[in-house]
Amino acid sequence: MTYTLPTTEDKSNYVEEKFDEIAQKYDRFNDVITFGMHRYWKKFVVRQTGLRPDEECLDLCCGTGDISREILRQHPDCKITGLDFSAEMLKIAKSKNSVNSEIQYLQGDAMNIPFPDTYFHAVTIGYGLRNVSDLNTCLQEIFRVLKPGGVLVSLDVGKVRLPIIAELNNFYFFRVVPLIGNIMMPGQEMFHYLPNSTLKFPHQEFLKRMLLETGFKQAEIHDFIFGASTVHVAYKPTDN
Ligand SMILES: C[S@@+](CC[C@H](N)C(=O)[O-])C[C@H]1O[C@@H](n2cnc3c(N)ncnc32)[C@H](O)[C@@H]1O
Repeated sequence: MTYTLPTTEDKSNYVEEKFDEIAQKYDRFNDVITFGMHRYWKKFVVRQTGLRPDEECLDLCCGTGDISREILRQHPDCKITGLDFSAEMLKIAKSKNSVNSEIQYLQGDAMNIPFPDTYFHAVTIGYGLRNVSDLNTCLQEIFRVLKPGGVLVSLDVGKVRLPIIAELNNFYFFRVVPLIGNIMMPGQEMFHYLPNSTLKFPHQEFLKRMLLETGFKQAEIHDFIFGASTVHVAYKPTDN
């Protein structure tokens, strides 16, 4: 199947609509294509937040709420907000909330975050930066809502640094992943969007530079499986 990515203008509507369509199968798909490893990476993300009791954390592009729930597990005394624009992904997140859960789920846009300046101690975002239609705007919004000294932790796919492994990774991501998707939801083009969306997403070193240009200091990269999966940890200066 030849696949064409949506234009920048169409991307937001496309992404929202497509995540609505695959919401029921999203968690299973993630478990299968990462062999369950995304759960370990999400635990790692939450450990990087260094949250303390009563602090406020925003899980941006929260989807079905994996990272939000991991924050609650590691930091039960924190105030957690999960934000996503897909109503269907949020429905699943809410259905997984326990009765006394502290997680508040909101429908909203990661490029226009409905919170005042300097509100959150930490922002997490899992596989979200790759999906927004304007990465710079999203990074500026995250910077705006973070308190001075606050931390952003982003998990996403990265670029594999070793050429031979990169070939294998591309084969898996562009050939095998869409096949798995097609078995789970026949004819669903979202499973072609996912690998293709990585083509326009910056290399982890370039994303680090973008974070520093946004105003973050001390941006760190943590690579997993040769860089196929990557976590950025970036701090807002304390005097900002
Ligand atoms: C790949 S899923 C990731 C879900 C979850 N964070 C995880 O790690 O499993 C990407 C999510 O980003 C959301 N998303 C993409 N662009 C968004 C935007 N501009 N505003 C809010 N949510 C957005 C999609 O609706 C989708 O739920």
